Amino acid sequence: MQDNNPIPPAPPAPELFTWEFATDPYPAYAWLREHAPVHRTRLPSGVEAWLVTRYGDARQALADQRLSKNPAHHDEPAHAKGKTGIPGERKAELMTHLLNIDPPDHTRLRRLVSKAFTPRTVAQFAPRVQELTDRLIDAFEAEGSADLIHEFAFPLPIYAICDLLGVPREDQDDFRDWAGMMIRHGGGPRGGVARSVKKMRNYLAELIHKKRENPGDDLISRLIEASDHGEHLTENEAAAMAFILLFAGFETTVNLIGNGMYALLRNPGQRERLQESLAAGETGLLETGVEELLRYDGPVEMATWRFATQPLTLGGQDIAAGDPVLVVLAAADRDPARFSGPDTLDLGRKDNQHLGYGHGIHYCLGAPLARLEGQTALATLLRRLPDLRLAVEPDDLRWRGGLIMRGLRTLPVEFTASP
Ligand code: HEM
Repeated sequence: MQDNNPIPPAPPAPELFTWEFATDPYPAYAWLREHAPVHRTRLPSGVEAWLVTRYGDARQALADQRLSKNPAHHDEPAHAKGKTGIPGERKAELMTHLLNIDPPDHTRLRRLVSKAFTPRTVAQFAPRVQELTDRLIDAFEAEGSADLIHEFAFPLPIYAICDLLGVPREDQDDFRDWAGMMIRHGGGPRGGVARSVKKMRNYLAELIHKKRENPGDDLISRLIEASDHGEHLTENEAAAMAFILLFAGFETTVNLIGNGMYALLRNPGQRERLQESLAAGETGLLETGVEELLRYDGPVEMATWRFATQPLTLGGQDIAAGDPVLVVLAAADRDPARFSGPDTLDLGRKDNQHLGYGHGIHYCLGAPLARLEGQTALATLLRRLPDLRLAVEPDDLRWRGGLIMRGLRTLPVEFTASP
């Protein structure tokens, strides 16, 4: 007998981690959310991991203590298989940091660093972020064109965090070079990334030593002084902490400014709305707008690695002990079950509890600084370069193909030059 109402076959599973996927992963994430919300896949490195794409499952996974951050729980230790991209696989001292450890160590270190890196510290830093932002725009304003990634989004967070940590101004360009090498993820000269990490590590170790002798009004000095029930950070822990603040706060902020400005340029109605509100001296739309940009196309595509410490079920899917789990924040933040019109950019969006900064005990420690830098950067660009426009076709832009971060390689723009 003929079936008059055949169930249409599900569209074929999308290919992940291709060039097209890096450019626009959202259609593939929509498919996964609908058809395979907890999906086992082989990553380009060869490691198999579960991708979690629904908002509810993602939020649950981020807060689930059965998912450890410690790579030692991986069933196939990375070092046994060669380089996999799982941080901490080489157990470098600098890699023993907040994003690689679990309670109770995490609780102790986070409490200590939170005492040094408070929202008040960040608020006091606002004039300096504005000054840095203006100085960077001054440098290209007369040109009428710029690459917003290299000339603006990239240097701003590196100088900001160097200032905050207490790296002397004369050494900050070295940091800029080392960080530039790290962000290229090995695309630079052979061994360049490892050499840059080593230089940064040696520099930070020496700086911490100097600050212990001669404390100043900076974050490194406060990290050394911070104590909890009489306990202090060791020099190694302080160096690892300074490194994670640099590392976690750098490429993320580059991408917030880059992805954020790109989204505004592609959505002229929203950008005008923001420009009008800024011209009227309001800040409300800027604040909700930056949160919406984080939801719509945030800097962290997947949260960092987690490993099942015991068999568990997530979103109806059984996960074995030792399996790696990657929570896809970009997919969760476009889940129609949580956000209305998730593929639409709405700078005034209410009820916007996005996962762009994570959730649970590893929730972004630098969120107040990221907000300050993102809001200052975007508002100042729109105010000082009001006719800013893309200098290339969107199809000509290239996205970095990394697993965790999502960001543009370049963002060429044009504007009316000011003398
Ligand atoms: C727009 C910029 C930023 C975004 C989108 C962002 C996002 C995130 C996310 C998603 C996590 C959680 C990762 C996970 O659970 O696997 C995280 C953690 C963290 N972030 Fe950020 N971040 C940003 C900027 C910063 C800045 C500026 C700093 C510091 C200067 C920073 C420091 C940290 C630290 C230390 C952690 C680890 C916290 C812990 O494990 O307890 N982040 N961030």
